[in-house]
Amino acid sequence: MLNIVVLVSGGGTNLQAIIDAIAAGTVTNTRIAAVISNNKAVKSLERARNAGIPAICVSPKDFEDREAFHQALLTAVDQYEPDLVVLAGFLVKIPEEMVHRYSNRIVNIHPSLIPSFCGVGYYGLRVHEKVLERGVKVTGATVHFVNEGMDEGPIIAQKAVVVEDGDTPEILQRRVMEQAEWLLLPAAIDDIANGRLRVADGKVFRKEG
Ligand code: GRF
Repeated sequence: MLNIVVLVSGGGTNLQAIIDAIAAGTVTNTRIAAVISNNKAVKSLERARNAGIPAICVSPKDFEDREAFHQALLTAVDQYEPDLVVLAGFLVKIPEEMVHRYSNRIVNIHPSLIPSFCGVGYYGLRVHEKVLERGVKVTGATVHFVNEGMDEGPIIAQKAVVVEDGDTPEILQRRVMEQAEWLLLPAAIDDIANGRLRVADGKVFRKEG
């Protein structure tokens, strides 16, 4: 059984997609041990509690400095002894110590086709604003393992989504979520939980058979 801890910052629709997929049996061999938010007032914590999952908040506002926050976040994650840490719309940069401790055991969902529209400053609605500004015709989402870089870890899966005339950042964000994010993240967790992936040379491969 893959024991996962999900880190969130916002609405938690990706978290909900994981909860629903486990309930529906499309994600198997997986249990959500806890949901951790960096923000007290988020819908994500409510979604977790409604599903009977322990939900806690570790906010940088409650600590003297970044280092103290990082240590508290690590302690919160470690106590659940996760096999996998899932960043589902987590807007905080992960402490390097966590990246090393959970090497190839942290996944992130990013709302573009990496390496386009990613890196510093590309998060949330901003990604979709930049996509529309540039006028690209196809965007999408990417699930990847997390390394020390920003959106640079080994790519697990990607899905393209068409940009339509008249899109606003909000409309496009919703389409990318519906057509890509909510499918990709649960599918990646299911692949990991069932041992279908291996990482070599900074790339992810599907195991034969
Ligand atoms: C998603 O678009 C995710 O890719 C991005 O932030 C958004 C979070 O949405 N990083 P939600 O909290 O899962 O609803």
